[in-house]
Amino acid sequence: MKRRGFISNSVKGFIAVTLLPKIGYSFMTDDIFAGGGCVPTTADILGPFYRANAPIRSNLQIVGEPGVPLIYKGTVYDLDCNPLPNAYIEVWQADHGGVYDNSSPEFKYRGAQYSDALGQYEFTSIHAGAYLNGAQYRPSHIHFRVTAPGIAELITQLYFVGDPYIAADPWASDPDAALRIVPVNNVGGVDTAIFDINVSGHLSAPNQAADMDIVIEQTYGGILITSPKAKMDSIEIIDINGRLVKGYYDVNSKDFTIRTGELSSGTYFARIQLGKHITVHKFQN
Ligand SMILES: [Fe+2]
Repeated sequence: MKRRGFISNSVKGFIAVTLLPKIGYSFMTDDIFAGGGCVPTTADILGPFYRANAPIRSNLQIVGEPGVPLIYKGTVYDLDCNPLPNAYIEVWQADHGGVYDNSSPEFKYRGAQYSDALGQYEFTSIHAGAYLNGAQYRPSHIHFRVTAPGIAELITQLYFVGDPYIAADPWASDPDAALRIVPVNNVGGVDTAIFDINVSGHLSAPNQAADMDIVIEQTYGGILITSPKAKMDSIEIIDINGRLVKGYYDVNSKDFTIRTGELSSGTYFARIQLGKHITVHKFQN
């Protein structure tokens, strides 16, 4: 039953990569479908090992720990296939031995980053070890959680072509996972996997323009955050390691001051909510 599902996935993948270019669609990514839109990347289970507030970083490798290096990277696209900057991408995976770090302050093999101006992200890590789920091994996989202004949260998993445990795994062998089983190629001596992510929202979300005008500046009284076009509902201050250090949840104003002394000096991100829209800005204190 599961095996049949996997064969069906392969057929879908074949159709996606071979037929679509012939019928005239630009071949930006495997999963461009008729109508010109990007089909949203399918969801997968969260699993029991998610931890919030993973450090913002792109390198998850740990000196002295075993593992075969793996780079996974790609572009986040919106529903119109526009590259989506500023998407918040959290990843978590098992170590070489198939074990998750569920408690240490190092957040091993866990990280987060924002997609860049071109919608791109990249993590340098290792191949995740397979681990037993009941009587069967789960295939090597990377968990993703993607959030961005104007889109629905995406929680999903990435798998790799040729993994012997995919066929028996109920999640990886689900037809919905077909486009999330990607090849690993040796690029410059390093295993590299490309995983483009299509989120279910539009770049031109309501209030998207408003956040462009947000200004964060140092004033006599502290850090002044100004949003001339829309009232800010809440402001969260996140440190460079991705940890929430302050939360202001009843702002309801176009300007807000974090008074001198409330924050120690350093680099921070302000995660600002304006209605349903969330925007993130980096600043220095
Ligand atoms: Fe997992």
